[in-house]
Parts: sequence; C-alpha cells; structure tokens
Amino acid sequence: MPNIIVVGAQWGDEGKGKIIDVLSKDSDYVVRYQGGNNAGHTVVVGEREFVLHLIPSGILHRGKVCVIGNGVVVDPEALWNEIIELRKKGIKVNEDNLMVSDEVHIIFPYHKAIERLKEDRRGSSKIGSTGRGIGPCYTDKADRCGIRLADLFEKDMLYEKLKANLKEKNEIFRKIYNFKGFSFKELYDQYLNYGKRLKRYACNCSIILNDCIAKGKSILFEGAQGTLLDMDHGTYPFVTSSNATAGGACTGTGVSPNKIDSVIGVVKAYTTRVGEGPFPTEFPPDLMEQIRNKGKEFGATTGRPRRCGWFDAVIVSHSIRVNGLDSIAVTKIDVLDDSNTIKICVAYKYKGKLCENFPGDINILNNCEPIYEVYPGWLEDTSSVQRYEDLPLNARRYLKRLSTILKTKISIVSVGSKRTQTFYNNI
Ligand code: IMP
Repeated sequence: MPNIIVVGAQWGDEGKGKIIDVLSKDSDYVVRYQGGNNAGHTVVVGEREFVLHLIPSGILHRGKVCVIGNGVVVDPEALWNEIIELRKKGIKVNEDNLMVSDEVHIIFPYHKAIERLKEDRRGSSKIGSTGRGIGPCYTDKADRCGIRLADLFEKDMLYEKLKANLKEKNEIFRKIYNFKGFSFKELYDQYLNYGKRLKRYACNCSIILNDCIAKGKSILFEGAQGTLLDMDHGTYPFVTSSNATAGGACTGTGVSPNKIDSVIGVVKAYTTRVGEGPFPTEFPPDLMEQIRNKGKEFGATTGRPRRCGWFDAVIVSHSIRVNGLDSIAVTKIDVLDDSNTIKICVAYKYKGKLCENFPGDINILNNCEPIYEVYPGWLEDTSSVQRYEDLPLNARRYLKRLSTILKTKISIVSVGSKRTQTFYNNI
C-alpha cells in the first residue's frame, strides 16, 4: 500500500473519519498532522459509534500504529480523556500503537480563555470557533513562545517558559479583558503531571515515519478540518489556524513530499459548514432542515447544527488544485435519496461577471450568486447499494457529472456510516 494523504475538500466534516477507517486496514501507520481536538471524526464499527478528536482513526484497527505529528496542537487533558474513553470501550491504546511527537505544541487553559474573550469581542464578525484554544496555541507557536510536549518532561524548562508566558498573558487578561488570569503554581503542577502521564507516548515523529517508509511500510495521513478551512487556502478569516491541505502533511510530520504517492480528497454529495463565514450554495430554511435531519448534520465536537447547501464545484475544483487530488471519495449519497431535484454549483456571478475560479476576495464569496446545473433526483433508497452499477441511474448520472466537471475520478463512494456501506470504483 502506498503512502496516501486524505484531506477534506470542503469545509470539514466530509466523512474523512470513515474513509480513513476503511483505508486504514491496508496501511501500517495512521498519522494526524495538523489541528487539534477541534476535529471530530466519527467512525461506526458494527453497531458502535466512536468519535475521535485527536487520536487517528486507525486506532480502531488492531496492529496499526497511530502517530500524532509535530504539526498538531495537543490539549493533554483531552488526549488523556480520549485514551481512557477508548480503553473503556475495549480498544487497546498503549505506547505500541499510539505515539505523539515530542514537538507538538501544548494547549493551556489560557489559550481557551483568550479565544473565548476574543470571540466575544468580535461580535457579529466572530469566527464561530470550537473554543478549544487551537488558534491561540498556534499563535504562540508562530510567536516562538509556545510550550511543546518535550518541555513538560523538564521541570526547569517548563518553569521558565510557563512563568514567562503567564507573566505576559495575565497582564493582558487583566488590563485588556478585565479577567483575573491563571495561577502559575496550579498550571505548573497540573502540566508536570500531564508530562509524566504522556512521556511514554513521546516520539520523534519524523524519524519513526521515515524509518517506516525505509522498511517498505505504508502511511495514511489523516487530514482534519477541510481545505476551505485551511489558513492559507480557505475562506480567511473564517478558517482554522493550521494547514489542513495536503502540504500540511509534510510540514506536520517531517516526511518529505517525494515520499507521498497519492492524495485523496473527501467530499460530501452536498456541502456543509459549521461556524461563520461565506457559503454561496447554502440551502433555504426548509431544505436546510430536511437535509440536516436526514444527514444528522450536527457537529461531532460541539453539537452545533451544521449549515447545509448544494454541492459547490467551484470550491471543490479549488481543493483539487491546491491539494493535487488524484481522486475523490464521495460520501453521504444516501442523504439526497429524497430530493426531487439536485443542484450543482458550477460558477458564481458577481457584479454581472461570471466567476469560475475560487476567489481570494471574501467579498465576492459573500455577495455572489451561484450558477447551478439542475438534475432530477433518484428518489430511491441507496443505503444498501454495494456496487456503483447498482446505484439508481440518476445517482450514477450525478456522480458522473461531478467527475466530469471536476476532471477528477471518483475512487470511493459511501452510502451510509457503516464500513459495509462503502464501495470502490473508477468513475
Ligand atoms: P477553530 O479551529 O476551533 O478555531 O474553529 C475555526 C473554524 O473552523 C470554525 O468555523 C469551526 O467551526 C471550524 N472547524 C474547526 N474544526 C472543524 C472540524 O473538525 N470540522 C468542521 N469545522 C471545523
């Protein structure tokens, strides 16, 4: 099995968890490379549902090694709770199948607090953050004052770094936000303790993964969020604070681009997004309600209702380009089973001009009119279909049309949340 990157090609929640889970059985290592516990990857195994936030979805397969790469930001409490929860459900998690780069940046309570206070101040221009402290932790990383996992193992180092951070942050909390701030002693003891618990999982991710490649083993890189939430290529500023695109897999793990064999993008058969920001193909309220309920479109991390809309080929074409997608996996076809007509957005109209490429200017996305192709629905249950050939004719026509517009083959189709509701094909 080659080394494959799997990315979200829309605004996240495309069903990556399920696709990673299906592909995991043929790979040796499954690796997260960016984001943190703002992600929520839902995987259904038999009758059981697992929601993973930090630990790669490969953990549900015996014999796979899961690695949290250096590009991830880790809330140690969230990681610890996830380990415990998985163990309670009978999933083995120990240092043989879970490793964490000792270079990951660590989320502290002050990151979550500042994020909340800033969002409150933004008022109507708020981002709609998950509130997990992800952005402020990456801010410290870029500001070169971040605290990494390895620092939690060295009490003098942690003392020095935390002291300096808290001195400045508490001053900002008090003077700007009228918030009392955090006690050094409490945080220091708490995080030294996390360091003790997590030490056994620490690794040098780049060495581990490059050794694995040298031995002919294969890696699945598990993207979190989606391309349109990427800090550089998404709908900035309504994005997350990391590179969710394929390039992030290399910087976030220390594996070079020439070791990557293929990039797969995951898309829903329609579009969703959580949080604020432009969404040209967003449904009107009645359709929104119908698809949201049928597709169970509620955030796996925050439980917030997701905004839903038609498939937007402009944004997916952008994803295909910036990620170099070799193929796409289309999920949740079954959610459109009851739709009389189905639309695909192929361009935007802005100030009388046709816009076929994703615009960098967010004003265009906010104010454009989507141009749709309209197709008849299939009005048949697809949830038990096992082969592309057995899909209703209009569903096949829809997929074929997507593949033609996107000039990219569809390699995987998913018609439900179970492992068995998936088939490979070559449209
Ligand atoms: P943050 O990364 O928590 O600050 O959130 C920034 C934006 O990204 C918000 O609109 C979130 O709703 C969105 N976001 C973050 N993580 C995910 C995810 O895993 N799926 C979908 N949206 C996400």
